[in-house]
Amino acid sequence: MEILHVSAECYPIAKVGGLADVVGALPKYQYQAGHIAKVVMPAYNTRFFHSQEFELVHQGGCWLGHTWRHFNVWREVTNLLGFDLYLIDIPGLLDTERVYGYHNDTDRFLTFQIAVLDWLNEWQHQPDVVHVHDYHTALIPFMMTHAYKYERLRNIASVLTIHNGQYQGQFGWDRLYQLPGFDLWKAGLLGWEGAINPLAAGIKCAWRFTTVSPSYLEEMYSSAAGLEALMNYEKGKGVGILNGIDTKVWDPATDPMLPVNYNQKTFAKAKRDIKQQLCEQYNLDPSLPLISFIGRLVGEKGADLLPEIIGRSIFDQKQQLNFLLLGSGDPHVEWSLQQTKLLTAPNFNVQFGYDEALSHRIYAGSDFLLMPSRVEPCGLNQMYALRYGTVPIVRSVGGLKDTVTDFGDPGGFGIRFVHAAAWDACQAVERAVTLYKDTAKLQAIIKTMMQLDHSWDSAAAEYLQLYSSIVVR
Ligand code: ADP
Ligand code: GLC
Repeated sequence: MEILHVSAECYPIAKVGGLADVVGALPKYQYQAGHIAKVVMPAYNTRFFHSQEFELVHQGGCWLGHTWRHFNVWREVTNLLGFDLYLIDIPGLLDTERVYGYHNDTDRFLTFQIAVLDWLNEWQHQPDVVHVHDYHTALIPFMMTHAYKYERLRNIASVLTIHNGQYQGQFGWDRLYQLPGFDLWKAGLLGWEGAINPLAAGIKCAWRFTTVSPSYLEEMYSSAAGLEALMNYEKGKGVGILNGIDTKVWDPATDPMLPVNYNQKTFAKAKRDIKQQLCEQYNLDPSLPLISFIGRLVGEKGADLLPEIIGRSIFDQKQQLNFLLLGSGDPHVEWSLQQTKLLTAPNFNVQFGYDEALSHRIYAGSDFLLMPSRVEPCGLNQMYALRYGTVPIVRSVGGLKDTVTDFGDPGGFGIRFVHAAAWDACQAVERAVTLYKDTAKLQAIIKTMMQLDHSWDSAAAEYLQLYSSIVVR
């Protein structure tokens, strides 16, 4: 089978969050299973684009409303990623430093999608499935089915994966003219609550849609940032497939970003050494339990709860624990974390910004990883933590519910709490501190966690089964 993934992010080319990790791993596993998997994404101004070898495979031009844009399609030639990578290069529009956050993001991603389809329209031999990810690419199923000029693409199956239903990419009807021509009677398929809503259009028009965990799919029927009714209406097309992780990139036994590598037998000393280094760097006491948080500092991740969780826990636990945080996001949250640091140092430190290598050291060197998420479609951090022998402390929601069990239950290994509230998270932290003192129990839990298999094997098979059920041969 041949699958074309279309995405705004893909690791290691451009990463903002878990979307990149997924799109950088799933195609690799599909390739290994004997299929042809291709990824097409924008050619941002990244180090990867400038340092790797690419060949020009297509030159074209496309219209966004009245604006004509030239574009080039580049193919990575060495196949170093384990799948075929194509970059759509639109000078002046997509060659940006960052992935998102520009005033013209709507134009950027609309043009990207149109360029992808113009290029695909010219292929002699077409893929069996076009798999799009999140709202940035979710208008593709509509255009493939309804735009006059893409009539050749009408029989290609389309799948939309919803990584995050909070972001829907809405824009006004005054931009309708920017889309390639189609029968205007179909315009209703684009809309939701008074605007063009790309994510809603994807849910309506893709042959199937998936969410990145079964629990998130269930939750979206009653809470989906305004799309609940649509989710219920389209229920028959939805499948929840739990993400995996790239166990080659995320392997403590070989990870080049760690100062010491380790496995299920050698973790105790190695994790201690990595923790020692981290604590020296961040001025924390290595003899105390280290609880970390890595991620976007936004409400969805419960980041606004962190100052209270950290402050209260440190005082309630008589300063017998440390917190370390890596992330960036909401300026109010950043400010309030800075204030918390003034009150709680030397038990708490924070590194603002994005640092891939540091994140690996934190997964490895921490004792616990805290995730007080309000919404978590899947969450990859907890799976990285499990693989690196770090006990996840999670709110029972979405993918966290599907991947972490509580050590108080038979066979359980993590710490779960129910409410997105500081008091409940603080109780979970207290249980972590108690568990830390029981070394034998903690080590047994770490061994259990490190043996779990969260590789992409089973999810990749589920996606293939889904494609097979819709591909017309
Ligand atoms: P989301 O995509 O919603 O942000 P995920 O848990 O799916 O959440 O994935 C987040 C990914 O981004 C993980 O690989 C995590 O390690 C990484 N990450 C998040 N923030 C940072 C940061 N500040 N520095 C390094 N890596 C980060
Ligand atoms: C989104 C979600 C996150 C998920 C990731 C990858 O960013 O917020 O929970 O793990 O996508 O699917």
